[in-house]
Amino acid sequence: MTAPLLEMKNISKRYGNIIALTDITTYVNSGEVTCILGDNGAGKSSLIKILAGAHQQSEGRLFVEGEEVMFDSPRDALERGIATVYQDLAVVPLMSVWRNFFLGSEPTKSFGPIRWIDTEAASRIAKEEMAKMGIDIRDTEQAVGTLSGGERQSVAIARAAYFGAKVLILDEPTSALGVRQSGVVLRYIIEAKHRGLGVIFITHNPNHAWPVGDRFLILNRGRSMGDFKKDEITRDELIMMMAGGAELEELTKELESASAGDEKLADMAEEFAEELEELEERAEHPD
Ligand SMILES: Nc1ncnc2c1ncn2[C@@H]1O[C@H](COP(=O)(O)OP(=O)(O)O)[C@@H](O)[C@H]1O
Ligand SMILES: [Mg+2]
Repeated sequence: MTAPLLEMKNISKRYGNIIALTDITTYVNSGEVTCILGDNGAGKSSLIKILAGAHQQSEGRLFVEGEEVMFDSPRDALERGIATVYQDLAVVPLMSVWRNFFLGSEPTKSFGPIRWIDTEAASRIAKEEMAKMGIDIRDTEQAVGTLSGGERQSVAIARAAYFGAKVLILDEPTSALGVRQSGVVLRYIIEAKHRGLGVIFITHNPNHAWPVGDRFLILNRGRSMGDFKKDEITRDELIMMMAGGAELEELTKELESASAGDEKLADMAEEFAEELEELEERAEHPD
């Protein structure tokens, strides 16, 4: 078996006294979407910042295509083909689509010692690459700020793919978007996967993760609650796990104490307790 595209082994991260991540081990394959799910504060951003070279892990090891790597900066990660699209930093709204697509890496023409940007080629390439993501940009001179939220994300995704990214990390790309625009982004995620990229899709919304994900890593307060292939978990279980075992436990106890004399509530409490047991079992033995 060939090594995974990206592998994390026993990654922990502390910020001073705050423990953001504890002992995370997982991997990312090309042509797959790996979803990282968890509530606010679960450690999702901390994990991807380590993969993106923006932060360094306190413990643990990273491997790219089987080779151990140490990232000192985002540039190091980018050189190994790991591109990160942050929700708010993805594009410069006032600049044109093609400018945003290249952001300083425009194709150039030269005559003797004189070199200038080949705007025609830049515009054409940007248009072609966006079309590959299923987006028709009629005028690449148009400011990115005039695109819809989903399309804006797609400029950043198409750019990463064009510049040779192997791993594409998307940090909560759908969290500020409505249902329709989220759908647009989910489509690009699938597009990127079909182009062979290993996509890491961070979200707190299991309804967004489920339709596109091949694997699901669930984080809870910095710990892994399990790492599931799609056929190892159901949509409902995923939603339940996201709802959080702890909250469920609380609810079960409340129901139990409130259900004295009420058969219906007692049944419900029992059901919750069973479900909780199953979830805990699964979290402990993900395989
Ligand atoms: N730069 C930082 N300095 C100190 N604590 C941080 C820093 N970044 C994140 N944290 C803490 O680490 C934990 C995980 O945060 P984060 O990775 O942002 O979670 P998520 O993205 O899942 O919401 C939280 O308790 C958060 O307050
Ligand atoms: Mg975050």
